[in-house]
Amino acid sequence: MLDESKFDVNFNLLALRIPRELCKIATRLLNGYLLDKPRVKPITEDPTSEKNRYMILSEKVQSPDLSDIPSEKLDELKKLCEIEVVPYSMTLGYSYWTADHILKQILPPGVEVPSSFETILLPFKDVIAKVIYDKNYPRIKTVVNKVGTITNEFRVPKFEILAGESNMVTEVKQYGATFKLDYSLVYWNSRLEHEHIRLVTMFRPGETICDMFAGIGPFAIPAAQKGCLVYANDLNPDSVHYLKINAKLNKVDDCVYAYNMDARKFISHLMVAPVGEINVESDDTMVKASDTCKAVDDAKTEDTKLGDAKDDLEDIQNSSRSVDASAVAVKRPSDCSTQENGNTPGGHKKKGNAHKRMKGSVLSNTKAWEHIDHVIMNLPASAIEFLDAFRGIISRKYWKGPLPLVHCYCFIRASETEELIISIAESALNAKIQDPVFHRVRDVAPNKAMFCLSFRLPEACFNEDIIDGTCG
Ligand SMILES: C[S@@+](CC[C@H](N)C(=O)[O-])C[C@H]1O[C@@H](n2cnc3c(N)ncnc32)[C@H](O)[C@@H]1O
Repeated sequence: MLDESKFDVNFNLLALRIPRELCKIATRLLNGYLLDKPRVKPITEDPTSEKNRYMILSEKVQSPDLSDIPSEKLDELKKLCEIEVVPYSMTLGYSYWTADHILKQILPPGVEVPSSFETILLPFKDVIAKVIYDKNYPRIKTVVNKVGTITNEFRVPKFEILAGESNMVTEVKQYGATFKLDYSLVYWNSRLEHEHIRLVTMFRPGETICDMFAGIGPFAIPAAQKGCLVYANDLNPDSVHYLKINAKLNKVDDCVYAYNMDARKFISHLMVAPVGEINVESDDTMVKASDTCKAVDDAKTEDTKLGDAKDDLEDIQNSSRSVDASAVAVKRPSDCSTQENGNTPGGHKKKGNAHKRMKGSVLSNTKAWEHIDHVIMNLPASAIEFLDAFRGIISRKYWKGPLPLVHCYCFIRASETEELIISIAESALNAKIQDPVFHRVRDVAPNKAMFCLSFRLPEACFNEDIIDGTCG
């Protein structure tokens, strides 16, 4: 246990008893000779008289005759009032010192004080947690330690609570966006902040983004803030729950479409052109964030949310009929298109960064099976294996513009080469990849690094075998 009294430091100082109305001018005169400690005021009450104040002198003034202070300063002061020197002692304890100061005293020499609250030195975890908690409360309400390795499908680490309340819901900020999450239920890694923003920087306003493993939205939300239309999917229902909340929090719920599916199914759901008339009523997998967040806020049930989504899909169907009589599985959300009057065909009012979207929209009213600009695949342990989802999926007949740029994350061990990764990706796609680009994201272990492999989806992913809007 931490003995807080061990951090007490006593200071035996001197103070000047000065009439309170002269404190301001005396402070100027004594500049450089008053107590100078962060968060401690050098002027304090005189316990014997309301009319006076103590001006606490710095540690360098040791002698009661004040010979440590230049005589011209003292002469000036004496012209103002009679100077009375009094002893002044004070104690600065645990509550005063910073976490850094305290931890430096506790940890053995040579052990570095953790610079980030994610870094825990195991043998000292409890004491570090206590100090971090005490020194940062109420900004930090819970201190945790990540335990074990992540093995589950949703990539959610296990945590032990070291200090504070047992509540893992928090809010984090990344480049101006706010993300709400429950650490115990969803994947989150603040170390990917730079990578999230690096990728989003490649996107242009008006582009369509498809995020197959979206988590709580660290690519999706900034992309939507930039004026992109985003189809974001995750298998973890809790991630989708927070994705919708975050789209709403950041006022981009009109441009983020949330799905809760396996990534392979999601890709085919999104990119395969529809066969004749689609029964949109049955499409309860797609949920526009704007409609469901209200449901989330209102703490309604999942059924209610999907009910709202169905209403939205009816809107979509109605608004799309004039454009495309063959009905749609997924609408190009009109809110992110080129409507000028702020009202969309679906009746939704534009908000937030609609102007950005208007300027950049290149392919308004296109559907996901007609055009997608970027596909994000951030599941480094196995995303490459999901590339088979793109085999023969895109209808050449309907597709407009270039094929999507795929950004597929992977791990590469020291014993592996980029060529090996390309060959795995090519056999999953059953196609040759032209001009692949590897970006090293970060080292995750001494012999293992995370990379982002970017390439344009090969033409071999086109499905040529199409008869009248039917995907063969
Ligand atoms: C490494 S996390 C990345 C999340 C997010 N892109 C980020 O950067 O924070 C991978 C995500 O993929 C999701 N996931 C795992 N298997 C999946 C699958 N088969 N289909 C869709 N999502 C999946 C997990 O739930 C997790 O949220």
